[in-house]
Amino acid sequence: MHSKRPKYTARTADPHLLYQISVQAPENDVHFLNRVYKNTYGRRPLSLREDFCGTALLCREWVGSHRKRTAVGVDLDEEVLAWGRRHNAEPLGSDAHRIELRKADVRKVNDLETEIIVAFNFSYWIFTERQEMVRYLKAARRSLQKEGLFVCDILGGPDAQCTLEERKTMPGFKYVWEQESFNPIDHLMRCAIHFEFPDGSRMRKAFTYSWRLWSAAEMKDCLAEAGFSRSEVYWEGTCRETMEGNGIFTRRPKVENEQAWVSYIVAFP
Ligand SMILES: C[S@@+](CC[C@H](N)C(=O)[O-])C[C@H]1O[C@@H](n2cnc3c(N)ncnc32)[C@H](O)[C@@H]1O
Repeated sequence: MHSKRPKYTARTADPHLLYQISVQAPENDVHFLNRVYKNTYGRRPLSLREDFCGTALLCREWVGSHRKRTAVGVDLDEEVLAWGRRHNAEPLGSDAHRIELRKADVRKVNDLETEIIVAFNFSYWIFTERQEMVRYLKAARRSLQKEGLFVCDILGGPDAQCTLEERKTMPGFKYVWEQESFNPIDHLMRCAIHFEFPDGSRMRKAFTYSWRLWSAAEMKDCLAEAGFSRSEVYWEGTCRETMEGNGIFTRRPKVENEQAWVSYIVAFP
């Protein structure tokens, strides 16, 4: 009989896998994109471009959700794209060809016309200057079909401007989100993801981020400046029992601020 070994340790765990398990919920994103697109244009969307795709887990979920769906994932980092090809595209077998993973700068992709472009997990906050942000959004708008959507997520609330460390228990490890610093003058923030394991080992700074915390109002202004005709914020409802987010996002022009919130912004070309 062999002793029960912990599933993950700092030495053996794959940070990309832990990230996918603890941070991403691609089935919810696909559900949201499908709902908003159908409500807007009255038909099912088939083509997705995932900017800053990392391991391209969303691309996988997208093509897995319908046999005619295609996805292009764009990222600068060949290492993470190779991981995505191996773990997210290839397992789809004969359907893997419906995912293209492209090493490129999201601002320079100009040969595609897609129904939906997404920038999730705040990755677009890498653009810390307004001009740079608008340049990216302009390029994204030009790459959308007439019946298109640009969708990004955004976080806010007073907690977003604090230094803090939050722990979430996952099966076999702990996920730690740290906001290391925040400068209220330029809104530059540094954040990190750490993982902790049952054997006491830790993976410090598995991922680090140097971002500008953009507000929804600023993003709506940038989207308008980039030529989008309209943009809307989809706010998450609250579960009455737990007072936590309930995963249901609805279009709202005005809300009560919350300590910490995550929303989607949807923009129309
Ligand atoms: C937070 S990670 C990806 C997160 C993923 N989208 C998700 O939903 O969890 C950000 C990614 O953006 C990529 N990246 C940064 N700047 C980029 C750029 N200008 N063009 C393309 N990819 C970029 C990085 O290589 C990194 O893999």
